[in-house]
Amino acid sequence: MTEKQRLQKVMANAGIASRRKSEEMIKNGLVQVNGETVTELGVKVSSSDKIKVNDKLIHKEQKRYILFYKPRGVISSVKDEKGRKVVTDYIKDVNERLYPVGRLDYDTSGLLLLTNDGEFANRLMHPRYKIDKTYIAKLNAIPKREDLAKLEKGGLKIKDYKTSPAKVKILSEDRLKNKAIVRITIHEGHNHQVKDMFDKIGFKVDKLSRERYGFLSLDGMTSGEYRDLGTTEVNLLLKNKK
Ligand code: URA
Repeated sequence: MTEKQRLQKVMANAGIASRRKSEEMIKNGLVQVNGETVTELGVKVSSSDKIKVNDKLIHKEQKRYILFYKPRGVISSVKDEKGRKVVTDYIKDVNERLYPVGRLDYDTSGLLLLTNDGEFANRLMHPRYKIDKTYIAKLNAIPKREDLAKLEKGGLKIKDYKTSPAKVKILSEDRLKNKAIVRITIHEGHNHQVKDMFDKIGFKVDKLSRERYGFLSLDGMTSGEYRDLGTTEVNLLLKNKK
């Protein structure tokens, strides 16, 4: 991260003291940036700056891993130039600069991880991690078994990639309205992949939500809620490599 932050904010994020207390420490000459004592409050620092408090190097941002139940109508980004709602608008009491691990479409709801740990995010998004992602898709018509078999078989050519075998199950059918609800599990994470896969076999996804990410689910949560992942959960996710 190269973005600059106020020295007292970085100190507070590192758990040194509250922002106000950190300001006092700066004024009292207890803080050094790159070997120089700083006594003024306006100073901003980046992640490459070495900060010492009472002669001890501080560790910067605590790593955060958040499981978020993304509502529909929210951008999987930290900023939107059109002023639409973004995922970080929902995260209220976290000082760390979070960003999403991959993305869900604007009109897709469901499980999205947010973190400030770039290495964790990159590893999870790397294809060799093959983390199963399970989606519930409402389709514009009722598929036949042989339609779904094409998704299960894999090898469908979409844009610049070929699909891996997917797990697919029809959860319900509405014969009157000619609609179906299908559960699909894939381990890749291409943009719009689920919609594109159904499009490829001649169906439109009217509604999409991600129910599971690896062993993580949204059980007990409602749309817009979030929670921290525990250390065990983070480590288990990283063990998923195949
Ligand atoms: N596949 C899609 O088509 N959209 C999503 O948001 C996620 C997976």
